[in-house]
Amino acid sequence: MIIAANLKTNLTREKTAKYIKEVEHFLNQHNISQEVFVFPAVSNLMSSTSKVVVGTQNAYPAVNGAFTGEIGYEQLEEFGIKTILIGHSERRHVIGETQESLIAKFDFYKNLGFKIIYCVGEPLNVREMGHKAMMEYISKQYEGIDTAYENLIIAYEPVWAIGSGLTPTLEDIEMVHKDLKIKSAAPLLYGGSVKVSNITEFLTLDNVDGVLVGSAALYAEHFCTMCEHAQNLEKK
Ligand code: PGA
Repeated sequence: MIIAANLKTNLTREKTAKYIKEVEHFLNQHNISQEVFVFPAVSNLMSSTSKVVVGTQNAYPAVNGAFTGEIGYEQLEEFGIKTILIGHSERRHVIGETQESLIAKFDFYKNLGFKIIYCVGEPLNVREMGHKAMMEYISKQYEGIDTAYENLIIAYEPVWAIGSGLTPTLEDIEMVHKDLKIKSAAPLLYGGSVKVSNITEFLTLDNVDGVLVGSAALYAEHFCTMCEHAQNLEKK
């Protein structure tokens, strides 16, 4: 299974290094064979360890150049970063990235062979319009995206479930994931208020291949426990 931590705009460089070291140590000690990703703030990027794949939360679709405030491939290459998060709800709704700009980013990093975790999800008002309208909204987020890309992972994260403590019902997640699997055979993660106490229920659902965790992953200890839960499930 795929267990990913999105650290967002949290932790310092020193704390991030400690975090990754702790997770690496835990995974080794407990023989955890899950696919584990950590996405630190861009100022805290560092090389992947043997068990923890470090990815970037964002990057501009350019090798380098005049893009003030952004980082490009040159800055990722320094740390051997080959994994990127694209289309996260906060990039779409807080930063204001458009589908068009996400497509440009997707294509650029796809051409470099990056592993791409592409996020989709609906805001609350759309969910309240019913399943059909919601799926139409999410379908638009697939437009222009190569859903057959071999290094693609998709994350379904309802906007209203992110950082809110709210989650869809397990039936709702299964229903959405079933529809999304028809759009793309890529591994499909669930994200939105995943924590130690609920991760197992999500991971046992049909068509859930892993999770993307924000707030609850901020403590290495909690994130490690979640990786352990995933491992225990696979043993059954
Ligand atoms: P959350 O965030 O776990 O805090 O809800 C998830 C995400 O933003 O990927």
